[in-house]
Amino acid sequence: MSNSELIKKIPKAELHLHIEGTLEPKMVFQLAERNNIKLPYANAQELAAKYNFSDLQSFLDLYYQATDVLQTEQDFFDLTWAYLEHCAEDNVVHCEIFFDPQSHTSRGVPFADVIQGIHKALVAGEEKLGITSQLILCFLRHLPEEDALKTWDEAQPWLSLISGVGLDSSERDFPPNLFANVFAKAKEAGLKLVAHAGEEGPAQYIEQALDILKIDRIDHGVRITESDELMDRVAKDNIALTVCPLSNVRLCVYSQMQEHPLLELLDRGLRVMINSDDPAYFGGYMNQNFHAVDEALNPSKEQIILLAKNSILASFLTDQEKQTWL
Ligand code: ADE
Ligand code: ZN
Repeated sequence: MSNSELIKKIPKAELHLHIEGTLEPKMVFQLAERNNIKLPYANAQELAAKYNFSDLQSFLDLYYQATDVLQTEQDFFDLTWAYLEHCAEDNVVHCEIFFDPQSHTSRGVPFADVIQGIHKALVAGEEKLGITSQLILCFLRHLPEEDALKTWDEAQPWLSLISGVGLDSSERDFPPNLFANVFAKAKEAGLKLVAHAGEEGPAQYIEQALDILKIDRIDHGVRITESDELMDRVAKDNIALTVCPLSNVRLCVYSQMQEHPLLELLDRGLRVMINSDDPAYFGGYMNQNFHAVDEALNPSKEQIILLAKNSILASFLTDQEKQTWL
């Protein structure tokens, strides 16, 4: 079997996926029309032509602007369903999806409409496509913790639909320790904890996320390569890193895929796997990320199998559920 065939066939989980990052230019235009919104671009191609990023912030500026077209429960349902169809195509059997309620409630969209639209699509995804899923509420770190605490309060009626909380948005100058209180509350409520750390920020942010926020899994975490000591600790403690190869190249963390440390981290015994982050913006969904890694880094079949296996092992599925896919 070729690597391409193996990538296609092997079951995998996606653990780092922002649902707002699956908003394709075509859907931006469809939803803008449905919601009577005038866009500053003539068409989807003109919008897609702007997807030329120099760093995380240059992406986030456009990404937050595009989310304005998401207004109703139906919009969130349609967005999530379209992503699940990509999962089915790529043999993603389980996904753990981030959503950013503050991006929507700040525009007057009710929290209930956001979460119900996403949740109903996830239920349909399990029924119709056999894809299991969990939801992770992310706090925006460029906003004060006070805002995150308000969002935590708003989330209380919906906690049964949420498995965990995360931390995303602009990393530089917004270290994890700013969010210690809201993460402590989520931990107390029994939720899983994740945080973006070491994407653009230094390895110390990974340490802070582990030591202060007490996270269960690190999102991105690639700048861990700056600390041998931290790599040893994370490998020993089996803390997973949800790595996003196409994202890292498109946001200029690495100037080309050949420089990506994914396989070095894997060979060093860290629990890394492949994810798509914001596939509508970064050039592809799960299998396109695998193919880009295959082309640039030339992994062995064993490495591809281990990357897929790590995605299942690092998921928040129960041990029994994981066994179905191992
Ligand atoms: N929000 C969406 N994608 C993100 C990323 N790659 N880093 C931080 N915040 C994000
Ligand atoms: Zn991300």
